[in-house]
Amino acid sequence: MIRIAILASGGGSNAEAIIGYFKSHNSIEVAMVLSNRKNAYVLERAKNHKIDHDSFTREDLNDETKLLKLLKEKEIDYIILAGFLMLIPSILTQAYMNRILNIHPALLPKYGGKGMYGHHVHEAVKINGEKISGMTIHLVNEQYDKGRILFQAEVEILVNDSAEDIAAKVLKLEHKHYPQIIESYISERESR
Ligand code: GAR
Repeated sequence: MIRIAILASGGGSNAEAIIGYFKSHNSIEVAMVLSNRKNAYVLERAKNHKIDHDSFTREDLNDETKLLKLLKEKEIDYIILAGFLMLIPSILTQAYMNRILNIHPALLPKYGGKGMYGHHVHEAVKINGEKISGMTIHLVNEQYDKGRILFQAEVEILVNDSAEDIAAKVLKLEHKHYPQIIESYISERESR
């Protein structure tokens, strides 16, 4: 089995979609859920699914004897960021080169970078009067939202849509596509 770890900072609706999708998968399993917030609801979700879960600190993330060691001990093959808001340090991007995926709630390269996450993204999209937004799934490098893009999907924005309406439309797309893109990316990479 290919073992994936989900890293998330918040509610974890994407994590839930991913866990559900891989529940009875024949080659990929969600082996761990990790959060930088010990009260994040995503950990509750992992517990409900009886999936190994834990929290870590900013120091743990940057310390190769902590988070990286844990990932190695748990034999994690791929890291999936699902609403994870901290920058991934180079000790992790190097150890997991082309094996860390992220989802971003906009059409990168627009509305990416430091500080551009969650509702901040949708508010900026609304203020700028965009007619289209969407989501991007990409590989992770040491810079926020800069790794190679794997997949994008668009949503239409109506004039009366609020930032919350845009967020809801984008989130729906994320749940639909992220599990499948994870599956196709990993399967293709592993079959080489
Ligand atoms: C998602 O919309 C995800 O794209 C976004 O956070 C939300 C998490 O929702 N990620 C970022 O903004 C990363 N820059 P969830 O916790 O319900 O999955």
